Amino acid sequence: MKIMVVGGGGREHAIIKKLAENSSVEKIYCLPGNGGIAADAECVPISSTDIPAIVSFAKDNAVDYAVVAQDDPLVMGCVDELNAVGVPCFGPDKKAAIIEGSKVFSKDFMRRNNIPTAEYEVFTDAEKALEYLETAKIPTVVKADGPALGKGALVCMTKDEAKNAVHEIMQDKKFGASGDRIVIEEFMTGPEVSVLSFTDGETVIPMVPSTDHKRAHDNDEGLNTGGMGTVAPSPYYTPEVHKQAMERIILPTVKAMKAEGRPFKGCLYFGLMITPEGPKVVEYNCRFGDPETQVVLPLLKSDLLNIMLATTNGNLKDVPVEFSDGAACCVIMASSGYPEKYEKGFEITIPDGLKSSVYVAGAKLDGNRLLTSGGRVLGVTACGKDLEEAVAEAYKKCEKISFENAYYRRDIGKKALEFLHRQRR
Ligand code: AMP
Ligand code: GLY
Repeated sequence: MKIMVVGGGGREHAIIKKLAENSSVEKIYCLPGNGGIAADAECVPISSTDIPAIVSFAKDNAVDYAVVAQDDPLVMGCVDELNAVGVPCFGPDKKAAIIEGSKVFSKDFMRRNNIPTAEYEVFTDAEKALEYLETAKIPTVVKADGPALGKGALVCMTKDEAKNAVHEIMQDKKFGASGDRIVIEEFMTGPEVSVLSFTDGETVIPMVPSTDHKRAHDNDEGLNTGGMGTVAPSPYYTPEVHKQAMERIILPTVKAMKAEGRPFKGCLYFGLMITPEGPKVVEYNCRFGDPETQVVLPLLKSDLLNIMLATTNGNLKDVPVEFSDGAACCVIMASSGYPEKYEKGFEITIPDGLKSSVYVAGAKLDGNRLLTSGGRVLGVTACGKDLEEAVAEAYKKCEKISFENAYYRRDIGKKALEFLHRQRR
């Protein structure tokens, strides 16, 4: 089979490595991929949002199956366009991808289907939003309706911050048309858990739960980033929380999407907050998370391609989806200064024995040399019998990988381990 993966970060690298385990895979293309992914797939310099070029490439190269891994092409309808020329895909069509593409859609969807989430109001008029903030409960969260490169949610600790957020999003159009509408919502507290799930529109199978570390610096300080590290399984997702999440959130979401004529096929990501009143939805994503995928897929024992094909064909209930009993930790090695200004173009050295543990996000090839080209450069994953072992192993591996200006958090998994220790006492 010839497979095409659309995207080019650590998540796509993890997907490609897992797909390659299936012996019927003869070729994997990655559009556009990156210098590190080039070791495991043929990277083709086509942008992940150039849908006509992606479709032409798939036709010209007789691609048998496409995995659209990134949010933007999914929200733009890449799957619909590929299906129209006969290329089956892993991923939701445009109608279903709106669950990530529009915050207003997803919030209204949860409200009308009684799915627990933060209370909220929608505004299309900045003046009305500012007026509402005069009496709103603070802290609060202001979110742009449309895609904003993961930066569209602003947690505001004061009224002034919230007003500023409204100005930036609605008046200065910081995220363009994505800010024509905003959601202002209740601030929730509790640990966050990402539950990625496979679904064919009917059956839904949650994967091992994981927890991301979004802030740039240790102890959850510094700016929000695309994610600085992940652990799985997330200890906050206890059997009790799982039961509540399945009954109140995961099953009702898949059922309601189908009932509303938007059956979701692919990976549906539930971003949950475990609040004192139980799990609530922070956000839905219409795809695998990054860097959650870099801990979830290494723990998957079953064949990824078979599962993906089953989500497309609607027979997910007949396919085994099993995860190992162990744990995994992924530490992101970034360019110092990220998510603000940073230097790039430095050579990356990865010992041969570690290549299988590394998922490359921001690097390019210069001849045979791999050079840093982004803020988040690569993820280093280790699996172990438990979280303690996985975290220790991941950090041992990080020490053996080097590039100038490398920066990584030293406390990935620390809070999760403390939580586990408290539970055991
Ligand atoms: P989002 O883009 O909706 O995933 O939000 C990004 C991050 O902002 C989340 O991972 C949370 O850490 C935080 N956040 C979003 N919504 C809320 C909320 N209602 N209460 C508290 N934190 C939130
Ligand atoms: N890790 C969060 C995301 O993929 O959106």
